[in-house]
Amino acid sequence: MTPYSPSSDPAVPEKPMVTSKIPRILAVANQKGGVGKTTTAVNLATALSAIGKRVLLVDLDPQGNASTGLGVKRAGLRTSTYDVIFEDAHVIDTAQPTKVPGLFVLPSSIHLSGAEIELVSARRREYRLQEALRTALPYDYVVIDCPPSLSLLTLNALVAADSIVVPLQCEFFALEGLSHLVKTIERVQQTFNPRLNIHGVVLTMYDPRNRLSAMVADDVRKYFGDKVYKTVIPRNVRLSEAPSYGLPAIVYDMRCPGARAYISLAGEVLKREKSMTASSSVIPPHTTEAA
Ligand SMILES: Nc1ncnc2c1ncn2[C@@H]1O[C@H](COP(=O)(O)OP(=O)(O)OP(=O)(O)O)[C@@H](O)[C@H]1O
Ligand SMILES: [Mg+2]
Repeated sequence: MTPYSPSSDPAVPEKPMVTSKIPRILAVANQKGGVGKTTTAVNLATALSAIGKRVLLVDLDPQGNASTGLGVKRAGLRTSTYDVIFEDAHVIDTAQPTKVPGLFVLPSSIHLSGAEIELVSARRREYRLQEALRTALPYDYVVIDCPPSLSLLTLNALVAADSIVVPLQCEFFALEGLSHLVKTIERVQQTFNPRLNIHGVVLTMYDPRNRLSAMVADDVRKYFGDKVYKTVIPRNVRLSEAPSYGLPAIVYDMRCPGARAYISLAGEVLKREKSMTASSSVIPPHTTEAA
């Protein structure tokens, strides 16, 4: 009788190889509050995981909505995004698994509330997150959920990122303040991160019964042209219910219109990625069991 050996037994699948490489980094940013950044970051990250990508969601907002929305209990955390930025904690050791296979979260803690003030006098204050993330990691994508400001924390996200996903709520003041965001992106490109670009603009909380939604969507498409994703995220109560169960909407109710829209958005994001990543650098892969 042949002795048992996991690698030679066809009934026992081998552990998938986890390769380390510099991940693609997408920052979900808009300094306006409540426009759907966190909902977009959580559900886009989940949809990318569902497609088979390994994804790390970085919660860079002291409010910690992405962490709680993914079921992380913030009170018992030993390390968090704060420790990665200030204490040289390693991303892999700090990342928490979620209920979604392949999706990890770098959780936010209450300490992040003081980060703005601490960053002011920190060495290489704009590059702290870049130094932690632009290294070989066992993820294909890092998605950063930014706070609602153009603060030093958001600046750290823009300096670390390859691309920005900008959620825009379909409401009257949607475009207000956007020129400020665009100018900030240009300044970051010139000074800190020449590879930064706008991946796309996603229209959120679209209500087809409301004429204003359609008018805002038209204005945004005139301003940003092809940068606006074809997928529009509808206003859908399931998207706002899901975080209270510690679940992404895509897991809470896969069939709801909001979840379907985010799955479609992830498809569009990956399609754009193909044309954007042709020249991205990759460190030769090696296996790791970490994270
Ligand atoms: N498409 C949607 N339909 C219905 N509710 C939504 C939708 N998108 C987001 N919401 C709800 O709107 C509120 C704001 O959304 P979210 O937290 O994602 O915005 P945010 O930009 O991250 O906010 P902040 O600026 O405070 O970080 C939340 O209660 C969320 O559940
Ligand atoms: Mg948020």
